[in-house]
Amino acid sequence: MMIIAGIEVAPSILNADFAELRSEVAKVATADWLHLDIMDGHFVPNLSFGPAVAKALRAHSDLPFEAHLMVENPEVYITPFKEAGVSRVLVHPEGTVHLHRLVQQIKTAGLEAGVALNPATPLNTIELVLPELAIVLVMTVNPGFGGQKLIRGVLPKIQQLRQRVNEAGLNCRIGVDGGINNTTAPEVIAAGADFIVAGTHIFRNQEDPAQVIAALKQLGTAKIAD
Ligand code: DX5
Ligand code: ZN
Repeated sequence: MMIIAGIEVAPSILNADFAELRSEVAKVATADWLHLDIMDGHFVPNLSFGPAVAKALRAHSDLPFEAHLMVENPEVYITPFKEAGVSRVLVHPEGTVHLHRLVQQIKTAGLEAGVALNPATPLNTIELVLPELAIVLVMTVNPGFGGQKLIRGVLPKIQQLRQRVNEAGLNCRIGVDGGINNTTAPEVIAAGADFIVAGTHIFRNQEDPAQVIAALKQLGTAKIAD
């Protein structure tokens, strides 16, 4: 049995109704974090939104915000997102030459640091910085778009990361991002994830977002009772 400290849920607003963002954000007030997918059209083949939108939403939610930077030159955006009121910044090692320096920059700015790993990026990439991180986000899709299908070949990476984090006694969340739904959430939790990002499943569902969030958190409770 693997005991984990409960599941945290972070709705991604990428697939929310952008014309109604204030009310969309209000629907997920029972979540743990708000996940902001920042895309620059270079690191990923899509554009989303920037710090101005994060700042505008900041006044309408009590959740901590995390900015998932799918951008080139992420160094440039740490201060703008801090000023916009985010609490945590997640960066991709594939987007920077100096990952260690970037993690230090985020922490020096007084923010929590996280790293997101593309499906084809191995765990070894973050070995040096792992003790510094509040979260590692294992991408279960190739980033760029919501509504994609989870890549099951990534599941062993979640298991290996869980083992490393537990063995080292690190206080680091293991997140998953991409293609999470009723079928895949139990699979990633069984693999060791304790932080779930979900966009389509929360915002494009017949069910009430609060119910979907409660059901995801319940999966973690079931696992503890296993
Ligand atoms: C992928 C993003 C996401 C993702 C989540 O590029 O990082 O956070 O869109 O959306 P769903 O849950 O629809 O896969
Ligand atoms: Zn994301």
